[in-house]
Amino acid sequence: MESNNYNLRDPSLFNSQGLIGGSWKFAPLGKTFPVIEPSTGDVLRECADFTKQDFIDAIESAHDGYQEFYSKTTAKERGVILRKWNDLILANLEDLATILSLENGKTIAEARGEITYATSFIAWFAEEATRNYGDTIPSSYHDTTVLTFKEPVGVCGIITPWNFPAAMITRKIAPAIAAGCSVVIKPPSETPFSCIALARLALQAGIPGSCLHVVPTKDREASLQLATHPKVKKLSFTGSTGVGKMLARMATETMKRVSMELGGNAPFIVFKDANLELAVAGAMVSKFRSSGQTCVCANRLLIHTSVVEEFTTKLVAKVEALKLGSGLAEDTSQGPLVNASAVKKVDTHVKDAISKGGILRTGGKAPENLKGYFYEPTVITNCHPGMAVATDETFGPLAAIFPFTTEAEALALANDTELGLAGYFFSKDIGTVMRVAGKLQVGMVGVNTGLISAAEAPFGGIKESGIGREGSRYGLAEYQNLKTVTIGNTQD
Ligand code: SIN
Repeated sequence: MESNNYNLRDPSLFNSQGLIGGSWKFAPLGKTFPVIEPSTGDVLRECADFTKQDFIDAIESAHDGYQEFYSKTTAKERGVILRKWNDLILANLEDLATILSLENGKTIAEARGEITYATSFIAWFAEEATRNYGDTIPSSYHDTTVLTFKEPVGVCGIITPWNFPAAMITRKIAPAIAAGCSVVIKPPSETPFSCIALARLALQAGIPGSCLHVVPTKDREASLQLATHPKVKKLSFTGSTGVGKMLARMATETMKRVSMELGGNAPFIVFKDANLELAVAGAMVSKFRSSGQTCVCANRLLIHTSVVEEFTTKLVAKVEALKLGSGLAEDTSQGPLVNASAVKKVDTHVKDAISKGGILRTGGKAPENLKGYFYEPTVITNCHPGMAVATDETFGPLAAIFPFTTEAEALALANDTELGLAGYFFSKDIGTVMRVAGKLQVGMVGVNTGLISAAEAPFGGIKESGIGREGSRYGLAEYQNLKTVTIGNTQD
């Protein structure tokens, strides 16, 4: 046991082993990789670094595991297990939030919020497990009935990002287990420890070790087994569009089902009739949640020229009130970015915008007094489509303000991207609300709110932002095959 346990109530939760075939394991030859604490830039802890063969072993175990699990449990029993997992996570919330904040850097308040958000998917799919309805379809043949069965797809390969080390795990595992599948997870190498801690509690709750495998690695080739191995029947990935396209191409070889939650470039439109207090509050949530590192973060703030100055003044006041600091410090309201390249990307977007006519209103540099990967929350006005921030997701704390004059212009700017994950707008006019909600080319629209993520709301994008929906009543079907059963000649 390593010495610094950060006052965890249950230090065994902060573990660096993988879970394969029901056993906690160190990697072959004791190989490890360092996980860096973004608030300090120092090594937080070493994590086991597994190989291609470990992925193959995990997939084989998961293949046997799901068949037994599905045949021996009812949907209700799987729901009960999920509910226990939910309760165990909530009972350990403070420890889990500490581990999450340490490895990801998000503030302890945000980390607590993420753990609660993570459990919301488990609670949701514990219920959905029992609502696995099929159909009875009137047949066009005499003496025939057509039914549908919903069956687990089988082994699911799961690859998750560092920006939500807990919630992206549960958003995928909970529906998979509810459906009767097994999973092999490659947790993010930046933040593997939250996943490992959640898996420990999942075993305690009764998820069989043969159905839950956690295989941390830095070896990209090794993890590609999840996209290529024929016994993996479903690949669920959250991450960048570039990597998602590559994985989807590989998964096609064996015709795996895929869910791809990819990048965004969210427009955030404020019309001239908007409630500006609400719009500024929405921009703070949407832009600065997790220091701007969510795929649904507002990337382009499109503000009507008649309110742009008032909006900016109010926004700058709120941004300047943010307190940058270590994730674990209770008074921090904005944590660090995940690593040095994230800081560099924000700085590149800031410098590019300023060099092309953008006006810096606050922030604009990495602070000198903080040691980790920090960047000052930044506001730039006078932005235009020629800037890098217009076409590329900053994934950091840069609020880039683009002025517009007409609804048509705002929509053209908003839709001028290959990505289509989230979009937001603020207006009090019901006609504008209905029209713009319909015309935004995205999978999710926030109207008069900057927060759209919830277990009950379908999460996913269109265009190059991905395929499939997570959470909600649609999320279970992503882990199920639909089987048509036609029963004929029942009358002797
Ligand atoms: C993500 O950034 O990948 C997920 C964001 C969310 O669930 O709100």
